[in-house]
Amino acid sequence: MATPLTEEGDGTPSFRPIAMLFPYLWPKGRWDLKARVLVAIFCLILAKVATVFVPYLFGMTLDSLPATAAGTAVVVALGWIGVYTLARIAMQALAQLRDGVFARVAYHALREVGVSTFAHVHTLSLRFHLERKTGGLSRIIDRGTKGIDTLLTFVIFSIFPTILELALVAGIMLWKFDVWFALTTLAMVGAYIWFTFAITRWRIKFRREMNESDNEASTKTVDSLLNYETVKYFNNEAHETRRFDESMAKFAAASIRTQTSLSILNTGQALIVALGLMVVMGLAVFGIAAHRLTVGEFAMANAYLIQLYVPLNLLGTVYREIVQALVDMDAMFTLLHRPQEVTDKPSAAPLKVSGGEIRFEDVVFAYDPERIVLKGISFTVPAGKTIAVVGPSGAGKSTISRILYRFYDIKSGRVTIDGQDIRDVTQTSLRAAIGIVPQDTVLFNDTVRYNIAYGRISAGEAEIEEAARHAQIDKFIRELPHGYDAMVGERGLKLSGGEKQRVAIARTILKNPPILLLDEATSALDTHTEREIQSALHEISRNRTTLVIAHRLSTVVDADEILVLDHGEIVERGRHDDLVARKGAYASMWNKQKKAEAARERLKKVEADPQVTPGIARVTPVAAGGE
Ligand SMILES: Nc1ncnc2c1ncn2[C@@H]1O[C@H](COP(=O)(O)OP(=O)(O)OP(=O)(O)O)[C@@H](O)[C@H]1O
Ligand SMILES: [Mg+2]
Repeated sequence: MATPLTEEGDGTPSFRPIAMLFPYLWPKGRWDLKARVLVAIFCLILAKVATVFVPYLFGMTLDSLPATAAGTAVVVALGWIGVYTLARIAMQALAQLRDGVFARVAYHALREVGVSTFAHVHTLSLRFHLERKTGGLSRIIDRGTKGIDTLLTFVIFSIFPTILELALVAGIMLWKFDVWFALTTLAMVGAYIWFTFAITRWRIKFRREMNESDNEASTKTVDSLLNYETVKYFNNEAHETRRFDESMAKFAAASIRTQTSLSILNTGQALIVALGLMVVMGLAVFGIAAHRLTVGEFAMANAYLIQLYVPLNLLGTVYREIVQALVDMDAMFTLLHRPQEVTDKPSAAPLKVSGGEIRFEDVVFAYDPERIVLKGISFTVPAGKTIAVVGPSGAGKSTISRILYRFYDIKSGRVTIDGQDIRDVTQTSLRAAIGIVPQDTVLFNDTVRYNIAYGRISAGEAEIEEAARHAQIDKFIRELPHGYDAMVGERGLKLSGGEKQRVAIARTILKNPPILLLDEATSALDTHTEREIQSALHEISRNRTTLVIAHRLSTVVDADEILVLDHGEIVERGRHDDLVARKGAYASMWNKQKKAEAARERLKKVEADPQVTPGIARVTPVAAGGE
């Protein structure tokens, strides 16, 4: 059973993502990238050394300021200023160089992780995807990759350098001043870090609430916009807007709490630094009074603490961002490492199709363990033959096609193609062998050409048009203002149900598989078009193993065998004539449909010639064209 995926984690940072990220930052076989990492680290250390020397040089300059305009003293002072300037330039330039050198490594990692996650999400089961909210899923990938960026920027270029700088400053304090200066600096930094982390941990939950309500608002937006038509059908715009507003109100409340707590954090930080500065300056006053320190050294101590304040000031943000990044990355890596439900066996070989015989042997299947959907189904579709599955809605017909396609694994029994259990072959080869025209066709929001070519991406122009001709949609496409370049709209909604179905048929024709699965492939078409396509389908299903799922029985009368499925069981099977003669479930379905068909035919005549029996026309004025 699929375990729910935590999107936000529980707020406590796990350092697992850092370990998981490491191989992407030190990629096997990429010596160029590894060299960049080393150069970046080298630049970073040099930049920090330069940084730490800036206040020192400032102090030295101050002490060398000449009392008179005597030659050598001025030269010495100018010399110090020159060195001071060089150190400042080095500090900035090396930091920039480091960023530039490292950028390629960072974006390589970002791309690799993002792409592997995207690919992995595609290998996850249909069950997983039906249970997921798409909006939430793309958010996880989005935030996860952003998290990597944040982590790299902050850990590598902020936390690590700050620690280095601290150590260097403490060392200089000890060397240049005395142990009290060093201890005060360390105490101030310690208090600062402790306070920042404590407050930030407390703040994280506000941040999480903010993210959760942001997620919620985004899923609601996506869901509501996807259901645009349904919203209109029921005049529920106000209801949708209210739901959205509720999420936004939550978001606003959480954001305000985040903001207020940030002010508390900043005030506390400023207080700690001010106190530290006060103590250090106090100590320096005593040092000057006792002639142990110069004015330049007084300024130097001050400059050190103020300079430390810059990276420290970012610490709260950095810590929070890192925690957030770790949480986001953890969610993404969890997704990336989420086990697949349907997997290839290590020994899986490609499916070898000789004739394409499909065999279901006592197949038992359930989506949820509590409710068995197929209760021991056995049938064989001999190579090149056509078998039809009919039966009431919810009987489990489409389920059979999902099992054959191996979207789900079965509970017991066996499904084989040419004697090979479908669990023993690779999924790619299995799916390459089967062409499916699904019950509900959803198209990509692209051109008609793109959607047809999707059946075989490498297909040429002529092949695409040939497939469209076979599916009886070529003429329609040519009449469109942009022809094959017409856009089909979100999920293909700019096409009618029947047009979409014909696009689906065309792309399956293009795929040209040895096994065909038609799930109500022509249900959305009128009788006339259906008949024309039926002959096309007949044409392509000749010599191919075909499983037809149909509602309209007239489309399956020629099938080699018809299975009547009801509540997950095959209740009748045989050829059309035998089944009609048996006067069972099939015969009654057949008779009902024939009556309905006859009524439709009569109606057509009325439509064509309104003089005849106007009474009928009045009964169904809309269908008859109105009065
Ligand atoms: N992903 C799923 N999770 C749980 N139950 C499902 C799922 N998909 C389908 N079902 C249930 O399994 C049963 C069989 O569904 P199936 O889609 O196979 O019916 P069908 O015979 O194709 O019906 P129709 O003629 O309406 O298309 C239904 O009762 C349905 O509610
Ligand atoms: Mg179905």
